[in-house]
Amino acid sequence: MKSPPKTRRTGDSQRSLFGEILDWMLAPLLFVWPISIALTHYFANNVAAFPYDQALRGHVSAISRQLKFVGGKPAINLPGSARAVIRADEIDTVYFHVYTRQGRLLAGDKDFPPPADLGSAIAEPGEIYFRDDELNGQELRVAYSFLNDAGMAPEQWVLVEVGETLEKRAQLANKIIASVIIPQFIIIPLAVVLVWFGLTKGLQPLTRLRETIEARQSADLSPISNRRVPEELEPLIGAFNAMLERMKRNVDAQQRFIADAAHQMRTPLAGLKTQAQLAQRESNPRQLQNSLRQIATGVDRASRLVNQLLTLVRTEAGDQLHQKQEPLDLDQLLRETVEDWVMRAMERRIDLGFETSGPAIIRGNAFLLREMVNNLIDNALRYTPGGGQVTARVVGHGDFAILEVEDSGIGISEEQAELVFERFYRVDDAGTEGSGLGLAIVREIADQHRAAASLGPNPRGKGAIARVIFPAWYDSTAVGQEVKPV
Ligand SMILES: Nc1ncnc2c1ncn2[C@@H]1O[C@H](COP(=O)(O)OP(=O)(O)OP(=O)(O)O)[C@@H](O)[C@H]1O
Ligand SMILES: [Mg+2]
Repeated sequence: MKSPPKTRRTGDSQRSLFGEILDWMLAPLLFVWPISIALTHYFANNVAAFPYDQALRGHVSAISRQLKFVGGKPAINLPGSARAVIRADEIDTVYFHVYTRQGRLLAGDKDFPPPADLGSAIAEPGEIYFRDDELNGQELRVAYSFLNDAGMAPEQWVLVEVGETLEKRAQLANKIIASVIIPQFIIIPLAVVLVWFGLTKGLQPLTRLRETIEARQSADLSPISNRRVPEELEPLIGAFNAMLERMKRNVDAQQRFIADAAHQMRTPLAGLKTQAQLAQRESNPRQLQNSLRQIATGVDRASRLVNQLLTLVRTEAGDQLHQKQEPLDLDQLLRETVEDWVMRAMERRIDLGFETSGPAIIRGNAFLLREMVNNLIDNALRYTPGGGQVTARVVGHGDFAILEVEDSGIGISEEQAELVFERFYRVDDAGTEGSGLGLAIVREIADQHRAAASLGPNPRGKGAIARVIFPAWYDSTAVGQEVKPV
């Protein structure tokens, strides 16, 4: 039996809770049932044996009473009526015999042989004992007793035995078993139905919770109330509400970001429009050329802003291209990226240098790391006046690889150093153009690499130093060996 079709799903991944609980309750029941049948069988046999054993005992006593010792010799006189009473059984065959210990049959059935240990059996004379035996392939229950006269040696005792087949006992035992097991066929299905019913009732809070969630508006991120909810569900609702809270913060941040981005786009677009209107009115070809050049610069600036926005959004969303991380040499990546900036540095008369101290292996995404380095070098060149110096390097520090871009430019105050990582935040007197997204991108990429990015005054003098501290990568298959560049 499984749960109602509405909540039931096929496949491994989606098991219904209802079905799960039911299975876990019924499976042990199926296991316990055979045990209960076996126990019933055992006890029923014991109970059924008792009254018939008593009857056998009665027969042994009756025969014993007929045995007399005359002058130390046993003599028995069993009237035919007594034999008839003993044998009178409609269902089972009853055997009896009286033997001396020497093996002489005094009375009873010849074809009911005496026990093999007739001469040696140890017993209390007069006591009645029981044993299980077999005769002609049929099981027998035998009651027996040794009889003696006062002062008689054990070798002279007389054995009285009455045995009967087990048919009556089996019939009674079967009746007992049936009377216990047949009601179970009714009670167990009834119990299953009641458990089913109980479970349906017990799981109702879950259904109610599902309905509450289903009924929600998609924009409603307010917490779910945990009033009238069983305490087992409270942690689930707590976790769910925490997730809603995070989502709400995210959505708020996204909305702020879109608003900021739109605002930022408006300024360069408005500038472009003014320049275009001016150019329209221009009749002097040289002035016109000049206006068009300004428009082209404006378009460059706007497209840089759009690119920055796209990079930030894609990095945050962590699309597949940006998510794939593998071991790489940060030193080599930095060298290649610095090379791309050499021309630009020369144009600005800045001495752009690269210092190496050997390979530094980290786990990362080459595309994103280049984007990060580009932004740091762009800043260093942008905020350093002509004639200055910019140096990029990676220093290995045991468990860390530290990327540094140091410049001799306008520098940054301690207070501004943290603020500049916020989106669209720019230091007012920086003078040059920019959208304030570069360092936000740097931080986002650092976060995705479990790295820490910071900017601060250059301790070696003028200017600023940007630092990103990465965890070093070790080849886990070569523990204890030297780091292997890949
Ligand atoms: N190397 C540096 N030296 C001094 N100030 C810096 C340096 N790097 C960044 N800043 C300050 O931090 C601010 C934010 O930098 P960020 O790179 O985020 O934006 P941006 O350079 O203004 O614009 P863009 O998005 O085009 O890079 C800059 O406006 C600048 O004032
Ligand atoms: Mg920048």
